[in-house]
Amino acid sequence: MKNYLDKNWKNSMRVKFDYNNMMQEFIGEEGFTKEEIDACMPLAKKSFDLLNSSRGTGMVGWTELPYNQDEVVKDINAYAEEVKGKFEYFVVLGIGGSALGPIAAFQALKHLHYNDLPKEKRGGPKFYVEDNIDPERMSALFDVIEPEKTLFNVVSKSGATSETMAQYLIIFDVLKKKLGKDLGEHIVCTTSKDSGNLIKIAKEENYKCFYIPDGVGGRFSELCPVGLLSLAILDIDICEILEGAKFMDEICQKADFTNPALMFAVTEYLAMQKGRNISVMMPYSDGLKFMSDWYAQLWAESLGKFNSSGVSVGQTPVKALGVTDQHSQVQLYVEGPSDKVVTFLNVERFRTTVEIPHGLEQFPDVSFLSGHTLNELIQTEQFSTAYALSTHGKMNNEIILPEINAFTLGEYLFMLELATGYAGGMLDVNTYNQPGVEAGKNATYAIFNKKGYEEKKKELLNAPKKKSDYIC
Ligand code: PA5
Repeated sequence: MKNYLDKNWKNSMRVKFDYNNMMQEFIGEEGFTKEEIDACMPLAKKSFDLLNSSRGTGMVGWTELPYNQDEVVKDINAYAEEVKGKFEYFVVLGIGGSALGPIAAFQALKHLHYNDLPKEKRGGPKFYVEDNIDPERMSALFDVIEPEKTLFNVVSKSGATSETMAQYLIIFDVLKKKLGKDLGEHIVCTTSKDSGNLIKIAKEENYKCFYIPDGVGGRFSELCPVGLLSLAILDIDICEILEGAKFMDEICQKADFTNPALMFAVTEYLAMQKGRNISVMMPYSDGLKFMSDWYAQLWAESLGKFNSSGVSVGQTPVKALGVTDQHSQVQLYVEGPSDKVVTFLNVERFRTTVEIPHGLEQFPDVSFLSGHTLNELIQTEQFSTAYALSTHGKMNNEIILPEINAFTLGEYLFMLELATGYAGGMLDVNTYNQPGVEAGKNATYAIFNKKGYEEKKKELLNAPKKKSDYIC
């Protein structure tokens, strides 16, 4: 029986949110009182009810992904089985929500040096996610893959994103030169079923396709084929990640203090009201390193915008890594302005234990480490950093994963998606649009003379020219 079908195992894998160090009792007057939290609960409940009543409608389709993908999962698993052993490399082409989830989940669930492992230990294709369009990076990719042994997954919901479509044109050209008309087996598309150019291209070329549901925006898409296909090809049980998400959804059924996603939203919302406009996500785990990139997009792109009264709101996410950034940013976090909340992402049990051996007894300042483990050291350093922040009155909290596995990852992703939905309601923004991103996209289209952007082009040509006085 799969672990995730066992109730006791699931309970032992429960992801928790600890906000003790946001409270006055722990950090002094900079923190919240219980009364302040209580006073925020009616607004939180309103937002909770709004999200609940929108589930599965409009752009809130993501809430149903743990429940409505039986056929999708079958199709993905069948495809993963079909391509197993056929390719040496698997490359995702996509950006934003089409890339950050796959990058983060790969880092969390596969060996930390996966691509460097010998083939027999890897057990699957080497994996690359090419999100950026830096020409040096694209050309470097072709130095490490052999296109004729590569499966490319072109991921774009809109099927119109310049970066991804430019990459598609490049790989299509390379494959055509190498393989002629047999290139079709080397490309799979993950896109909208009936809108955008990518689906039209895929139909014309007869590529295998997986679909991004209409109600699932890029940054909420890791639990649909955008994320699931890569995981299945990397031999991860995709049912487990969906079960984890479902479990978190069950935990978050009430608009009260038992709901970790709601309490995350409430405490961050209150923190913003007190001028904490920066949200630092700091995993103490290399496996979770890119979970902060995924969170940064989710939190920034969903919440950073004008609210319905035209007021700019949002919290700037900052990515950090424990313990690495203790030697870089933590000085600022402890003694700098009280403008942030630091969220530690902690793992209770690492997948391995590394002992620190005895030796150098003549150097007591070194040998005190002996007999301990790196596991103890990293956890102690996290505790000590939280303590330093708290004694300086700096808000911090913890998201705790008992272990890193597909189940706890599903919980974490779903918890923060729910938290973002709740926070969006509380801040009174449209959580699911990104007009600020569109503005930049449109300017690029105009400069590249894309049809329909003629007015934008005129606007850009009339924009003030840069002065050399200000360039030195
Ligand atoms: O969250 C979002 O909607 C965006 O970040 C998109 O994921 C990103 O712009 C890529 O869009 P698309 O999937 O349409 O290529």
